[in-house]
Amino acid sequence: MNEVLQNIKARRSVRAYTDRQVSAQDLDLILEAAAYAPNGMHYETWHFTAIQDAAILTELNKVIKGAFAKSDEPRLRERGQSETYCCYYHAPTLVIVSNEPTQWWASMDCACALENIFLAARSLGIGSCWINQLGQTCDDPEVRALLTRLGVPQNHKVYGCAALGYESANTSQKEKWIKEGTITIVR
Ligand SMILES: Cc1cc2nc3c(=O)[nH]c(=O)nc-3n(C[C@H](O)[C@H](O)[C@H](O)COP(=O)(O)O)c2cc1C
Repeated sequence: MNEVLQNIKARRSVRAYTDRQVSAQDLDLILEAAAYAPNGMHYETWHFTAIQDAAILTELNKVIKGAFAKSDEPRLRERGQSETYCCYYHAPTLVIVSNEPTQWWASMDCACALENIFLAARSLGIGSCWINQLGQTCDDPEVRALLTRLGVPQNHKVYGCAALGYESANTSQKEKWIKEGTITIVR
């Protein structure tokens, strides 16, 4: 199997991280890989906002929890009230992937970019996980105010985030298999 295929098969979502920060050089490579992803009509309307400041990430988690606390859904309200809930698993880096919601494929552009982020990270020995909570909360007024302060364009929605960092040594990953019936080949 070639290195690209090996890298694809070896990637897993990482949900426990050490404090070690992703270097500036590696972050640049990962963000460049993101911006090389395919995107509809090659409009490149997306934006990548990378945060490596632990205090800002804590603040972001707090406003997300604040938005959840206002939800009608009991499960989300519970998260909002939890002392320990951290949507980004205390990863040292979070990349917010946003786009103009004007094109119906905006989310697809972001999904392509996120997969490039995950695979680029994996190739550099860096763990990652898709973090979805800003998708539900980015239009909450407190969340939006912080996103704007961080540089997320005001006319953008957040379609996903990537937590990035080094996997804690004491985590175990589930074995992965392809569900039966997933693939059809017509020849
Ligand atoms: C659209 C999407 C949203 C996701 N949101 C989250 C999330 O908010 N938190 C999380 O821990 N994992 C999230 N994941 C990761 C999935 O749970 C994970 O990819 C799936 O369980 C398969 O495991 P693997 O990534 O290790 O192969 C998301 C994945 C996708 C594609």
